[in-house]
Amino acid sequence: MPTPEFNAASPWVPSPYEWSSCKLCDAYDFFRPELVEHIRAVGEEPRFHSKQWEYAQLLETVKRLPKRAGTMVGLGCGCEPSIPLLAAQADKVVTTDLYGMHGAWKNAHRRPDTLWPELRNLEVHPMDMRHIDLPKGAFDFVWSICAVEHVGDADAVVDVVRRAGELLAPGGRMFLSTEYTFDDKPFYAPARPSGTLFLDRSTLRRLFTETGLHLVEPLDLRLSTHPLNVPVWDQAANKGFVMISCTVYRSQPLPFWGTYGGCVSLVLSREDTGNDRLLEDPDQRQRLEPLWKLGREVSRRLTLPTRWW
Ligand SMILES: C[S@@+](CC[C@H](N)C(=O)[O-])C[C@H]1O[C@@H](n2cnc3c(N)ncnc32)[C@H](O)[C@@H]1O
Repeated sequence: MPTPEFNAASPWVPSPYEWSSCKLCDAYDFFRPELVEHIRAVGEEPRFHSKQWEYAQLLETVKRLPKRAGTMVGLGCGCEPSIPLLAAQADKVVTTDLYGMHGAWKNAHRRPDTLWPELRNLEVHPMDMRHIDLPKGAFDFVWSICAVEHVGDADAVVDVVRRAGELLAPGGRMFLSTEYTFDDKPFYAPARPSGTLFLDRSTLRRLFTETGLHLVEPLDLRLSTHPLNVPVWDQAANKGFVMISCTVYRSQPLPFWGTYGGCVSLVLSREDTGNDRLLEDPDQRQRLEPLWKLGREVSRRLTLPTRWW
């Protein structure tokens, strides 16, 4: 399959470009009617933000599961707006996070069962995902959005994913979305209450070579040069300039020290279907350079020099 490219003559038609559960977030994805529908179902209007994309990828993955998932468990769920939509499709949904525990993020200051008391099949289980205490093999579907990258270094992330995989019943699937770095090694951004590890390609590879889990589709790490993939300092895009796209971003904890980041989703199973590989473009670095340059210019207009790169 060729690398998806921005087509100036027909910019809204992402072709050739099939939907995949295992890919980088790309501005192109926001032109997919099915993803737009999911974003609206969680109560938002699409605005080219990777966070919206994660919910949409999760919901599309569930919609396309080969068999209905009766039992589901999420790790680091906070109060994801997609929880009621999952609960509507399953017999039992268990959400876990550091609810009421030391180190919980603001997202986990409330419990989903206080937010949605009408969900009779929802169980909230306070749990540090580094110490999973749920029965092995008991769940048809395991998910984790934007959370495994907060447990420590690459070894810690791989370990959490391996243990989470043990929760899967035969034929079950695990959806993960996490932070990606375009660098050649993981990038750790320290923060409170916990830092963020941006996973590089080699760490992503470990998720299907060292966990006993396998990709259900090859993991596509190619990014189109769609202009809305322009990377801006992530905090500017998140806080001040919410109208600016945030499909790809610059994470920069210190002046000139940062990484180009994006969001990646992957679906794993205990069964090996022969899909354990990355799809990559050897010329990607060179192709993306104009976008990176534009991102630098845009950010210099939006942020103080301490956030320039
Ligand atoms: C960026 S937030 C994402 C929340 C939610 N998944 C979402 O997408 O809206 C990261 C979440 O991971 C949780 N978290 C961080 N470290 C954790 C750990 N060791 N065990 C369980 N949850 C953790 C935080 O409390 C927080 O709710």
